[in-house]
Amino acid sequence: MSANVLVSAQGVTKSFGSTKALVDVSITLLRGEIHALLGGNGAGKSTLIGILSQNSSPDGGAIHFGTEKVAVVHQELAILPELTVAENITIGTQRGPAFTWRRAAEETERVLEMLGQGHGEIRPETIAGTLQLHQMQLVEIARALSSGADLILLDEPTASLTLDETGKLFAVLRALRAKGIGLVLVSHRMHEIRQVADRATVLRDGRTVVDRRALSEIDDATILREMFGTALLSPEGEHPIHATTTPAPNSQTGLHLHHKATGIRVDVAPGSIIGLAGTPQGPASLFDTLLGLSRDDGWEAIVEGKPWRPRSPRAAVKRGLGYISGDRAAKGVFPELSIRDNAMIARQVVRRVSVRRPSEIHAVRAQAAALGFSHVDVEAPPRSLSGGTMQKVLIARWLDLPLKVLLLEEPTRGVDVRTKTDLYAMIRTLAESGVVVLWWSTENRELLSISSQILAFTVNGDPQLLVDTRSTNEAELVHHTGTT
Ligand SMILES: Nc1ncnc2c1ncn2[C@@H]1O[C@H](COP(=O)(O)OP(=O)(O)OP(=O)(O)O)[C@@H](O)[C@H]1O
Ligand SMILES: [Mg+2]
Repeated sequence: MSANVLVSAQGVTKSFGSTKALVDVSITLLRGEIHALLGGNGAGKSTLIGILSQNSSPDGGAIHFGTEKVAVVHQELAILPELTVAENITIGTQRGPAFTWRRAAEETERVLEMLGQGHGEIRPETIAGTLQLHQMQLVEIARALSSGADLILLDEPTASLTLDETGKLFAVLRALRAKGIGLVLVSHRMHEIRQVADRATVLRDGRTVVDRRALSEIDDATILREMFGTALLSPEGEHPIHATTTPAPNSQTGLHLHHKATGIRVDVAPGSIIGLAGTPQGPASLFDTLLGLSRDDGWEAIVEGKPWRPRSPRAAVKRGLGYISGDRAAKGVFPELSIRDNAMIARQVVRRVSVRRPSEIHAVRAQAAALGFSHVDVEAPPRSLSGGTMQKVLIARWLDLPLKVLLLEEPTRGVDVRTKTDLYAMIRTLAESGVVVLWWSTENRELLSISSQILAFTVNGDPQLLVDTRSTNEAELVHHTGTT
């Protein structure tokens, strides 16, 4: 094996019970290369990463390692919330008598600086659990950078990063590549892959279908065809599905928001999808108010002519609010319940129905068919699902409820290109039934394609202006939100 080879794997297999996650996978990873690992939801990417990082063992196949130093950034965050940022970052490397707080703090500063977070809100002494999701993801990445590994496996590291943070991460990845480190990047965003990766390996149903192809030699349409086995109409699921008409808001229907400090008012008619653009703070504080989580009354809300001040998320859900958290592992999934209960939990709250009724099984089946997870055993625990399939279960939760308002935080996070298209259509149909949808995303292009209007937030978290999506573009949005 050449000295440049970090991993060479042939014919790798792995099953979970009757599920064949990897059937025949080959992959070769070299030093000084950013290697994209691509595939639809459930294709086997995370399973392969688990094996390459030696967190799990394959059932069969031959794997040769040219290094022992492999670090991994997991798809679902593996942050220890009670520990400080410095402890989280140095936990694997600084142990025993050599560990001092000062060293850990210095090392933390060093890697955060690399990620452009040197003087930001993430401090070595910050308790990790108090950070926002994208900041936790940065800590997780910083831990991998700090490990001194020769091979770094990044499983959807950009899923909750802002555009700005993603840009900085990519600069770091390029610098590591120049030092001869090998990198594997999983992402469902083809434009990101094109920005940084050199080569791609594509998995479909647990098999390698594209083996180490240079990205300069293969176009998106070919990659997507290999990924799904069929041609897709549009790469990246970018269907222009703007609301054709924006109904006039009326004071007795829809949602009316007033931000007291800036005086900004937003009147949303039923059936509209409003995009929220900018770093997470601003949208998060609006969502907290609507969810009844925040006592701070920066926002006033009126829904269907009545003041909206729920005392708790449960009260908000009973009054017709739906919510998909961006932090699905911590706030979305109930790991001790079955997949079926996870999909049905909002119905239970609203209708106080038992979960064992046959109608419920019927409802879950219908949702699974609509969202493309019919193959899943819904009585199993959610940990058996791939990241993207879990996201679909969380979406299913709100599909057949009498909703007034639906809050979405990055709902397509981790969802593959094909399902994204389905999801856009599904949310559009939901909106057309009269629901007000507030959709926060770090992907401006997604907001431009799905919403009729966009509320842009400044980096300080204040709402700034409401723009019609037909009269704006990506560059203008970036300018307004300061997220260049
Ligand atoms: N612990 C587990 N128990 C049972 N089945 C599992 C387990 N982990 C993964 N699987 C199954 O293995 C298959 C591959 O899953 P994997 O998580 O590797 O997909 P993925 O390519 O990472 O998808 P995604 O893009 O959605 O993250 C899926 O069918 C999944 O349900
Ligand atoms: Mg995965």
